[in-house]
Amino acid sequence: MIQAQQKDLNPKAKNIVWHEASVNREAISNQRGHKSVILWFTGLSGSGKSTLANAVNAALFDYGLASYVLDGDNIRHGLCKDLGFSDFDREENIRRIGEVSKLFLDAGIIVLTAFVSPFRADREKARSLVDVGDFIEIYCAADISICEVRDTKGLYAKARAGEIKEFTGVSSPYEEPERPEISIDTGKYDLENCVQSVIDKLIQIGVVPTPK
Ligand code: ADX
Repeated sequence: MIQAQQKDLNPKAKNIVWHEASVNREAISNQRGHKSVILWFTGLSGSGKSTLANAVNAALFDYGLASYVLDGDNIRHGLCKDLGFSDFDREENIRRIGEVSKLFLDAGIIVLTAFVSPFRADREKARSLVDVGDFIEIYCAADISICEVRDTKGLYAKARAGEIKEFTGVSSPYEEPERPEISIDTGKYDLENCVQSVIDKLIQIGVVPTPK
């Protein structure tokens, strides 16, 4: 057992101790035959994060790998239903998702997160929770003009009309990743192409088996 503070978690609760898991990530990975990793999709609303994350997830399922999608809209119906879209709430949203992703990683599951996650510092904090190589940032770099034309949920129209406040790209900033592991122009390439770019990276880092 390790004292929680030694792990630099700085929890509010005192008198708590850290319990090491009896079955660790390495053992799970050896038994299942694959590594776990966080695939962190970021980009504007309507840039195709959820679509791409779900399509990659389906491909991973076909490979027989254990994976799960955490999707912004869905998570805001439960775990994060107390949060809105102020800078503070977005920071807390991403903090929780970073921590949850880390749990999935420890459980040996490939986790795909699809959140706007507009602030660089918040994404970097999520990255810093895990080891180098465990966090793959995937920038869905569709131009805002394309997202706005698509306007799949009708939200850009509402944001322009002032009916939605603090809308990313309109009245709240989006800070582009500076060095994402993968950057895909999801406004330009079709879904199949985009999925392949992610799978290629996963083959390269040994998460997905090399094709025979
Ligand atoms: S984040 O900024 O905290 O990462 P998150 O990904 O959870 O956002 O939620 C974004 C989704 O909520 C968008 O895809 C969109 O459907 C919806 N949404 C509603 N209001 C806003 C807003 N003000 N800004 C961005 N997205 C919004």
